[in-house]
Amino acid sequence: MNEKLCVLAGPASKDLAKSVAKILGAKLIDVELKVFPDGESKVRIDGELDGKFVVIVQSTYPPVDTHLMQSLFMISKAMKMGAGVCVVIPYLAYARQDKEFLKGEAVSMELVCSLFNSSGAKNLVTVDAHSQMALSYFTISTYNVSAVPLLAKYFKSQKLVKPLAVSPDIGGSARAQEFAKIIGTPSIALPKFRDRSTGEVTIDPNAPELKTARERDVILIDDIISTGGSIVKATEVLLKAGCRRVFVACTHALLLNGALEKIMNAGASEVVGTNTVPSQVSKVDVAPAICDQVSKLNE
Ligand code: R5P
Repeated sequence: MNEKLCVLAGPASKDLAKSVAKILGAKLIDVELKVFPDGESKVRIDGELDGKFVVIVQSTYPPVDTHLMQSLFMISKAMKMGAGVCVVIPYLAYARQDKEFLKGEAVSMELVCSLFNSSGAKNLVTVDAHSQMALSYFTISTYNVSAVPLLAKYFKSQKLVKPLAVSPDIGGSARAQEFAKIIGTPSIALPKFRDRSTGEVTIDPNAPELKTARERDVILIDDIISTGGSIVKATEVLLKAGCRRVFVACTHALLLNGALEKIMNAGASEVVGTNTVPSQVSKVDVAPAICDQVSKLNE
């Protein structure tokens, strides 16, 4: 056991924090949470932190603002208790609003980053942040670790026929390529279009890329599944194009508004997510990737 190192289990990520503490050989410290009737949170750290290197693990999946505030409260208190803080935000909310897409929109990510920048945390570790642009607003040392190798490992052990890695959008091409390289398959990216006002997603069913998917098992890989709109559309066009089966891999399975049911109804065979967002599809533990990075910071 490393006496100098502690892991604080944020209310949103208790199981993941436990996994992280186990791998790091660090003491796990619990955080008591009280949520008042008006929605305000109060956190209480149950342990001694003076002179310790503390890893706070707290994801910011829904309720996003509540989990975000809790993470800032924990950082602030840990600092006051005399700790050096590394905060792990496995799912980094607001990263999709990393610029002004429509005139007048607030750049939410810029403000979120400034909160962490001034929080006193020395380092921030996140997993598959939505974009480099989102990370560009951090001024504290920030490390974006990839869950893709762990997701690929899961699929490598499945019996798939002529697998093909597919990104549902062009922006995710590099992710699909990374995944494909590990399992030794080709990859493609689909031309997805999202209406910024309505949020509606379309993918051209006649896109030439779809021909590659014929008679293959496809693994759709994305960073986030929120409403499931992107994955439902991609599954539909891929099955229509004649692929064998559609498997879905994603890091952050938010699965809002019945997304999982919609994806399965669209014809997907399986959805695999990680524990950055705890859900019924959290089949891959990202703790090893987080710990690889945290260990380097604590050397
Ligand atoms: C978009 O660029 C992201 O990578 C995801 O594809 C998107 O956020 C998923 O959202 P939804 O599930 O609502 O389509």
